This record gives sequence, C-alpha cells and structure tokens, in this order.
Amino acid sequence: MGRERGPVRRLLLAIAFSITPWSASLHAETGYELWLRYRRVTDATRLAEYRRVVARVVVAGNSPTARAIREELTLALRGLLDTTVSVGATTVGSPGLIVGIASSPRIASLLPARRRPPAGRESFLIANVKAGGKTVIVVAANSDVGALYGTFALLRGLQMQRPVTALESSSVPRIRRRVLDHWDNLDGSVERGYAGASLWDWARLPETLSPRYRDYARANASIGINGVVLTNVNANAQALTPEYLGKVAALANVFRPYGIAVYLTARFSAPIELGGLKTADPLDSTVRAWWRDKADEIYRSVPDFGGFLVKANSEGQPGPQDYHRTHADGANMLADAVAPHHGVVMWRAFVYSNDVPSDRVKQAYDEFTPLDGAFRANVLVQTKNGPLDFQPREPFHPLFGALPKTAQMLEFQITKEYLGEDTHLVYLAPLFKEVLDADTYVRGPGSTVARVIDGTLQGQRETGIAGVANVGSDTNWTGSQFNQANWYAFGRLAWDHRLTAAGIAEEWIRATFTNDDAAVRTIAHMMLVSREAAVNYMTPLGLAHIMGSNHHYGPAPWARLSRADWSPVYFHRADSVGVGFDRTATGSNAVAQYAPHVRELLANRATVPDSLLLWFHHVGWREPLRSGRTLWDEIGLHYQAGVDTVRAMRGEWQSVRESIDAPRFAEVDSFLSIQEREARWWRDAALEYFSSFSQLPLPPGVEPPAHSLEYYMGLRCPADARKPRCPDIP
Ligand code: GCU
Repeated sequence: MGRERGPVRRLLLAIAFSITPWSASLHAETGYELWLRYRRVTDATRLAEYRRVVARVVVAGNSPTARAIREELTLALRGLLDTTVSVGATTVGSPGLIVGIASSPRIASLLPARRRPPAGRESFLIANVKAGGKTVIVVAANSDVGALYGTFALLRGLQMQRPVTALESSSVPRIRRRVLDHWDNLDGSVERGYAGASLWDWARLPETLSPRYRDYARANASIGINGVVLTNVNANAQALTPEYLGKVAALANVFRPYGIAVYLTARFSAPIELGGLKTADPLDSTVRAWWRDKADEIYRSVPDFGGFLVKANSEGQPGPQDYHRTHADGANMLADAVAPHHGVVMWRAFVYSNDVPSDRVKQAYDEFTPLDGAFRANVLVQTKNGPLDFQPREPFHPLFGALPKTAQMLEFQITKEYLGEDTHLVYLAPLFKEVLDADTYVRGPGSTVARVIDGTLQGQRETGIAGVANVGSDTNWTGSQFNQANWYAFGRLAWDHRLTAAGIAEEWIRATFTNDDAAVRTIAHMMLVSREAAVNYMTPLGLAHIMGSNHHYGPAPWARLSRADWSPVYFHRADSVGVGFDRTATGSNAVAQYAPHVRELLANRATVPDSLLLWFHHVGWREPLRSGRTLWDEIGLHYQAGVDTVRAMRGEWQSVRESIDAPRFAEVDSFLSIQEREARWWRDAALEYFSSFSQLPLPPGVEPPAHSLEYYMGLRCPADARKPRCPDIP
C-alpha cells in the first residue's frame, strides 16, 4: 500500500481485502482474475464446436480436489461457452468431458489400452475418444491432483481457442518441488514487494479466510506451482509459535485441495528465542531435540507440511557458523527433524561473509563445494540464478553442476527488485530461459542448468525450483498487469523448462488480454524485447549492481556504501583506463569456478560474449569490440537502444488500444510512460557518470543527457520505491 500510513493505509487495506473476488470483478477488468478470466470464446466456429462437445461434464469423486475441479469447470465453462454446462459427479446422459482417475472403471473403459497418463502423481493425459458415435474428451490422471492439472491444461487450450482435436496432450512435471517463496513479514509488509501488503492477514487468521487465499491457490495450481513458503527468508521465529502454527494450518487447509504444500522459513536461533535454550548449536543434543519436537508439533497441525527454507549466516542472519559448525551441520540437523515426516530443508547458498573479501561473487562456491556429499538426502541447496543478486543479467551461478552429490534448487526472483519493480514492463521468461538453458559443461556439452536442477544430469532424486513471489494485496495481485506474466512464466517453466518464452507469452496474452491475433503478436513482441531493453538501459555489456542502494529502481553508479561489496563503484571499477571487473586470472579469478570449457570461453576477450564482457573483464574505453566500435561507443549505443525500445513499446501498446479494455489499457499506458522516463534517467545518469572517466564524447545517435551529473547525484529518491517515485526527474 505504498507510503500511506495509519488510518489511510488501514482503509486501503480493508478495501483491497473486501473486494469479493471473481464474482464481483467479473467484468470490471481490474486484473484480479489473472489468466483465469474465462471470457466467451470469440471464434464462432470454435464456440459452436466446444458447445457441441462439452455439453455435459462428469468429474468423478468427492474429494476436496474433485470438488475444486467441478467448481473450476463450472466457472470456466460458463464464461468461455457463455452458457450453463452441467458439471457433476455423475450425469444423466453421456458426458462430453470426463475427468478422473485413469484406473477407474469408467475412464479405463473409455481409453484404449495403450493410452494412459505418464507415471507420477501429478501427470495427466488429455485424450479424445469416441463413445456411442460421439466425441468425448477424457482428462485422465493417476491422482486427483493430476486431474486438476489436466483440467487446467484443458482450459488453457480452450482459452487459446484450439480445435478439439488439438487439445490432446500428456504431461509430467520435470521438477518435483515448484515453489513460490514469499518474503512476507508477520507485520504485513513484504520485503522487496511492490504489490501492496502481504496476502496473509495474520491478525485475522485462523478464523477469517479471505477469499483471496483460494483464488491464489487456483492461480498457482493452474500453472503447476505445488509449494508456498509463507514467510520471509529474513525470518521471524514467531512464525513457529503455536499461535502462528494454527494460522499456518488454516492456510494449508485452503491450499491442500489445490495440491499446494506450505513451507516456513526457520530462524536458526529459534531454540534460543522461543525455547529459552542457551545455544542454537546444531550439534547440541538439546537443540536437536528442540527442533525435533518443533517439527513434530508442526506436523500435528499440518500433516503435509513441506519443510523449512533457511537463510543462515548471510546478511546478518544467525546460523551454524556462529558455533563454528558448517552449513551442512545446520542443514542436517533440521533435515533430521523433518525426515520422519518426509519433509525437506531448502538451505540457501546466498551467503557472503561479514568481512569484505576479494570478490563477493566467489563466496558461495567457495563455502559450498567442500560440503558436497555432506548433506542429508532431504536437503536441497537453494542457489540464486547468478552469483551476485538477481541483477538484470548475470552469468549462471558456478555452483550449478559443481555439487554432483547434492540436490540443488534454483532460485529466481519473480518480484522485480532490480528490474523496475512494479511499473516497468519486463517479461522475465527470457531471463529464466537464458539461465535454464545455460550450459555448465560439467559433464560435457548439454550439461544445462535445467538438467542439473531437474536431476537428470547428476542423478538427484530430490529436485526443486523456487521463485521469489511478486504477489500482494493489490487488486491486480502483482502491482502491474504485466507482472502477472512473470508469475505465470515461472510456474510454466517450473513445470516444463523446455517451453519457450514466446509460447508462454502467447498463452498468457490470450488468456489475460485478447485473442485478436494481430494484438497477440504485438503484445508478445513487446514482452519478448522488454528484458533486453531493461538490460540495455540499466546495465549493458555485463555491468551490474550500479543501482541506488536504498531504492534499487534508479541509477547510482557513483555510490560508495559502508561496505565495499555493496557499492556500485566496487562492481564497475571505472577508472581513466576503462571499466569492468577483472575476474580472470589477472584479477579475482572467479572464472576458475566454472568448468574448463566455460572458464576459457569467459576468460578470453576474443570469446567472452559482449553481454557479459564487463562482468569478467576490465576493458579500455577505446578498445574495439566485435562490432568494430569502441567500448565507449557501444556503452552509449546500448543505453540509447534501451530507451528506444521502450519508446517503441509505447507505440506498440497504442496500436492495440482497440483490443484491450479501457482500464487495463490506461494503466499499462501510464506505466510505460514511467518506464520511458526512468529509462532516460538511467541512460543519462550512467553516461554522465562514466564519461567523467572516459572523457570521450557520446557517439552519434545517442541523445545528450538532460541534466548534469551533479543533478543526478543530488536526487534523493525514497527508499520505498512504490510511491512516490523519485521526484523531479525529467
Ligand atoms: C537481496 C535483497 C534482500 C534479501 C536478499 C536475500 O539482497 O535485497 O532484501 O533479503 O537478497 O535473498 O536474502
């Protein structure tokens, strides 16, 4: 809720929570409905075909999940087909759509013997069969939750207006734990959240269950997310008290029918803070007993509790190193506590020491590789996509592939802490794909990050992927309409990392905005160019971490903070000779953490990709790059290209006005104008600053900065970036 405080904030929160979901917002186009909008099919032939086939629906069973499937189909088909479809556990007359367990006699009799869903609790099959001369769509799975996923896949096909014959598919998730990490605090604030307050209304739980909880679960299930960490990694031990566990159990009860398990963050010092113990030493028997008892207590309230996520000995958080123990000692203690209940521990590798070292990006690798093989089987080491901190572009984290005897989770940030926060349109699927498809070469070519984390490269059985959530109490959930696409893309890629950024964008646009083909193409283009645009106007050519330290949404390459390795000047290292961080053997030698092939590629100026040049090399301002232009000219032209792309996106958005409802059109339009203004701010401030080192004129084609360097350095931007944004920029 931005910067509003006190009564105003409470009032706004009350309004946000009192909006009755789906029903009240049905045609208001607030964005509340996300990609589950279910508007009438616009293609008349298709609508007639769907109405003909799907006149009666049977979803067998009476489990909460079976009921959830019936409710979803009732809502969706009423909207899509604009007619009332009978949806029941049984039906009079023969159904055109039947959903259920593949081995049940009814479904088994419909499916040919060789057509079954793939193995696994969550997989499904969608098949068209003939029964009594009529087409019947069968959604078959091995469990109710598989049937739920199949139902959402079918609905996706209908939203895309695919012919009935093209709805057939079968699917199995490639990664087992597909988790959203909420950085939500118990006071209702969200760390790095740009979409209002936390969804969890702790004060009113467990009695009051906001209808949003269920809608949130539906949205997650529709894209295959099956786990939710409710609390911030900067953890508060209070979340583990009986009072809060009752509230957690209430949320778990809402999420369970949708196949979603809850997890909590564990504050490592909780045995001291809650248990009154003198130590939290993981090898101390009283500490171990405290955690065992705590785990037993949690599982009594939440029998399918997923486990703990832990940030330890990182940025001031307590951890095993406080007792001269290792990360493995700490993780294993918690793992032993949850193991009898089949829980896991997700132990974060985002660590860097309190003493400023030679190169911050090397530390996670240095701390964790000696521990490979020391973790229990139910520990997953959770590693951010890159070695620094969710920058617009980073190389993949060198830990991927470097822990062959450890289960590894990949952590993305869906909330756009460093990518324009709420307003900038930056579609993250290209970033996600770039990381997933990156080749670590640890077992030769084809050793992609995706294959490390899906377990196929090194044979791990526990697999997982996490995204730091971007949702909050805003009516549209994510602060902007387009930020919804990043939640969507994360879920879809977590389910199947082989999907493409373009394919996911098209699905999302058709479900969320419009099925008009020309508009879909235009919007998809805007989305697909948007991430590179942000890289260009923020941190082109491998620059990183040059944002303002308090707000993170604008530039401050000049900043020097209390810690060197929090400071932009530490990361870009500009001087009169050039710019960039030498991470080759002549510098910090961070390249040595990659497999030989990757190391050589990155260490060599002739082969390092331009996109990562300044991450790994200190390059002279006048040195020519691949293009034949000097580094200085390339920096200028990249910043300009970023601004130009945003301007083009504004024009593209104007061209789809007729296809988009007025409220959402206007919101996106206004956000794009903020984005353009801030892109110019980034370009101008960065170029003014770097030119004070290069002493070179801007190349032709780059607009001169609007203000002096002193002007940009003098701007005081609010730490709460949400509203108002930095005042007075042009
Ligand atoms: C970033 C972010 C912090 C967060 C940290 C983490 O540094 O700015 O707010 O706590 O990442 O991932 O733990």
